[in-house]
Amino acid sequence: MAKTEVKFPENFVWGAATSAYQIEGAVTEDGKGEHIWDVYTKEPGKIYSGHTGEVACDHYHRYKEDVQLMKAIGLKAYRFSIDWSRVLPEGYGRVNEKAIAFYNALIDELLENEIEPYITLYHWELPYEIYKRGGWMNPQIVEWFGEYAKLVAERFTDRVTHFFTLNEPQCFVGLGFLTGEHAPGVKAPLRDTFEMAHNALKAHGRAVQMLRAYGKQKLTIGYAPTSSVCYPETNRPEDIEAARQMYFSMQEDDSNWTWNVAWWSDPVLLGHYPEEGLVRYEKYLPKITDADMKLISEPIDVYGQNIYNGCAYRMGENGKPEAVQRYEGFPKTAIQWPVTPECLYWGPKFLYERYQKPIYITENGLSCHDVISLDGKVHDPNRIDFLGRYLHELKRAATEVDIRGYFQWSLMDNFEWAKGYSDRFGLVYVDYRNQQRILKDSAYWYKHVIKTNGEEI
Ligand code: NOJ
Repeated sequence: MAKTEVKFPENFVWGAATSAYQIEGAVTEDGKGEHIWDVYTKEPGKIYSGHTGEVACDHYHRYKEDVQLMKAIGLKAYRFSIDWSRVLPEGYGRVNEKAIAFYNALIDELLENEIEPYITLYHWELPYEIYKRGGWMNPQIVEWFGEYAKLVAERFTDRVTHFFTLNEPQCFVGLGFLTGEHAPGVKAPLRDTFEMAHNALKAHGRAVQMLRAYGKQKLTIGYAPTSSVCYPETNRPEDIEAARQMYFSMQEDDSNWTWNVAWWSDPVLLGHYPEEGLVRYEKYLPKITDADMKLISEPIDVYGQNIYNGCAYRMGENGKPEAVQRYEGFPKTAIQWPVTPECLYWGPKFLYERYQKPIYITENGLSCHDVISLDGKVHDPNRIDFLGRYLHELKRAATEVDIRGYFQWSLMDNFEWAKGYSDRFGLVYVDYRNQQRILKDSAYWYKHVIKTNGEEI
């Protein structure tokens, strides 16, 4: 590809991401408590082919080898989550020192290999004890999550300075409690889901306070929701306006109301819920006080966003935004998500315009039908093509707005929640029969991208 004038900033953070339950395994080892996924995956019929995260990538035992993989790829940063129920088996109270020792060892190993740790506090491992006490419905969860954040601050911030609080609250509330496709598999009344969302946002704010109060040095704290980006069909100002309006609107059906940006980010970054949602969902909303909003909008330093795809919009002749239908045979990934590179240009642009916070792409990637070829290697040209297209768009955005880094999802193939091991998202192939790891072609490609700071993309 030709070199362009458009450049990624110097010191751009090139990383990859994972989460605890998706890779760690060792679910009953060293005093780990249960979380909702430990329990949910045992229920028949919930997860593809009855898969569970019991062994996953056995990262708990193979973290040293995995850090060497990261080093081989040349990652500058690694985003991983701490399993809340591993360090606090009941979710509060008793600390499990063996779990602290595991995360300490992982952090040390990363630092020795010059890979910067980025910790996510909550990537869906809700301690089962807390769930039994009402989980996100119990307002006490705000303090419990704060206690967990305090512990993390006390034990790890001598070496770790980058944190994200919640990963994709849209998913853990929406899929976990509205559609019931994810743990704990509940279809709660709408009113409850708004209350859970409000408590989750308060828990985020409390965690920020605790990290700041107990952090041993200056921390960079962020939040990592997700979005399906609305992007314009053309560069006509009307189409751009149509996409912008749709991106921040609350047009979803009640049955999937959680899929929006504004409800989850306006409170955190602007200090108030979006008016459109307040009006539309008035009858379902919990009591929202000024003190709540102050807590939720506790200042953060960076804004993370997991972006995988989006949808094109144009301004219709009636002056209303309309979705552009995808043509037959539109490219899609193995998990059936559309390939829409434009989302990595317009997503960060629109988000920065509205929230004025430095942005990290905390996740982006795809699943492919990867196999070990006759030559023993894993050739994944589709992943290289996809990432090349997406990063090209991100580079354009990064020359216009403040984008600090990019985390590829995922470092390695792993437990894809309800889809079990059927979807492979990794730069590294995992052979689940024997836990062998193989760097896919895309891992070598990404290594070159990192080394050249994306110059040739
Ligand atoms: C979102 C989630 O944060 C992650 O856990 C998941 O595996 C990827 N996206 C892919 O679906």
